[in-house]
Amino acid sequence: MCYLFRKCSVMLATLAYILPLVCGLQGADVVLSCSLIEEGGGMGGMMGGSMFKRTPSTLVFRDLVENAGLSPELVTPFNPPETPNADDLIFELLLPSIQIPDADSLLHADCNEQNIVCEISRYVPRGADPDSLPAHFIGSVQLEGAGLSLTLVLQTSPSETAESDSRPLMQSKLNLPLSQSGTLLTAVVFVVFSRVPSVVAPIGGDVRLDCGFRQKDSIPGQDVALEWRLQHRGNGRKVLDMKAREMEAEVGSDVLVDREGTSAEADLLVREGNASLTLQRLKVSDEGTYICTVGSGEFQTQQVVQVHITRESFVDP
Ligand SMILES: *[C@@H]1O[C@H](CO)[C@@H](O)[C@H](O)[C@H]1NC(C)=O
Repeated sequence: MCYLFRKCSVMLATLAYILPLVCGLQGADVVLSCSLIEEGGGMGGMMGGSMFKRTPSTLVFRDLVENAGLSPELVTPFNPPETPNADDLIFELLLPSIQIPDADSLLHADCNEQNIVCEISRYVPRGADPDSLPAHFIGSVQLEGAGLSLTLVLQTSPSETAESDSRPLMQSKLNLPLSQSGTLLTAVVFVVFSRVPSVVAPIGGDVRLDCGFRQKDSIPGQDVALEWRLQHRGNGRKVLDMKAREMEAEVGSDVLVDREGTSAEADLLVREGNASLTLQRLKVSDEGTYICTVGSGEFQTQQVVQVHITRESFVDP
């Protein structure tokens, strides 16, 4: 599905010369096919492991990219189903509660038919009652090939104030109220992202692993916790552990590092949501899957960055 493409083709006939500009800037909806992943749904099996159930669902990013003042006739918005259906699983994200970095790459991927992997699962914030409202979900969105990777915490929005005598339609699987157009209205309240989820670097060189976060209602002075772990061939170890908070004029932090030449910036973490990790003088043993976990307030989630080390040694330029 490519909503932007349709908009572009409308333009094509008349305004072909400004096409690139229009495609890049328009306020547009992005609609992704996702799976809702649920644990259980069967016997645990002999290994005691749980089974996962996948149910097709849809994630709709509303107005993903700021509208650059284009006339509404050119916009092809997401059209909700004509009759709301209790079995439909449509997560409608009202943006921009949070500015998602590089969000336009999702739009372009959608247009170029680049594959996007999208999975949604239930999430319970720290200290929250799993059955209380608002409900929370994790939306994990990855562009295939190297590209943007997002882990979104979605929070259901209170349903529109309906007339007191009409009860909202309830989603049959989740038992949550649907909006009048049959979608589950949610807002992004927290996101951990990486714009470069896979890097190749030479032995002896330095590398920065891209990871960042955004929070909708962050409380000034609140602790931000950052952990970077390395998983490799079944072994895991923590490479960095940081707790930082914004104080009057400076940023206070506690840092533990388990590898020489490893750093993250407490300042950038609390002020800009930049959780990137720098690894200097790379060794073969630095290869593996790095997990960047950011926690702030009641939310915590993670992002994965793959590091491949090449054997050609690093030549200082
Ligand atoms: C973090 O800061 C570095 C250095 O300024 C920058 O290159 C990088 O893009 C930033 N990453 C994020 C996720 O903000």
